[in-house]
Amino acid sequence: MNKKDVKKLIIASLEARNYSYSPYSEYSVGAALLCKSGRIAIGANIENASYGATVCAERTAFFKAVSEGEREFEAIAIAGGMHGEDPAEYAYPCGICRQVMREFCNTKKFKVFVVKSEDDYEEYTLEELLPKSFGPENIV
Ligand code: THU
Repeated sequence: MNKKDVKKLIIASLEARNYSYSPYSEYSVGAALLCKSGRIAIGANIENASYGATVCAERTAFFKAVSEGEREFEAIAIAGGMHGEDPAEYAYPCGICRQVMREFCNTKKFKVFVVKSEDDYEEYTLEELLPKSFGPENIV
């Protein structure tokens, strides 16, 4: 990925926070998922009065893309922070979201950007965030 594409993805993750439905935690998360087709699927966290029904931003982005035919992915950017504030910390993806990424992505190649601002972010491979993982090839 060149710098311009990284920046575009990061900005999209920050913008996606605006669509978060998070009245309970008041913590809005945005995710921007770059598909191999070139499409960027955005997602936000969607909470529920029955808290366990909440879905994270990353899974929203993945499920949108997969349900519209995308199967191959390059990278995801994630930004999270309290309502009305810029991210104070890097929002690392939760374990369930890491496992969903694992289903569709090459762990050594897929990039995860955790974002505080346009110019302040960290980059990981999925392998770094989810080493020694279980995936589709373990079943067949
Ligand atoms: N959340 C995400 O959207 N992604 C994560 O990886 C961790 C947590 C959301 C879920 C919930 O709406 C809020 O952040 C507080 O946990």
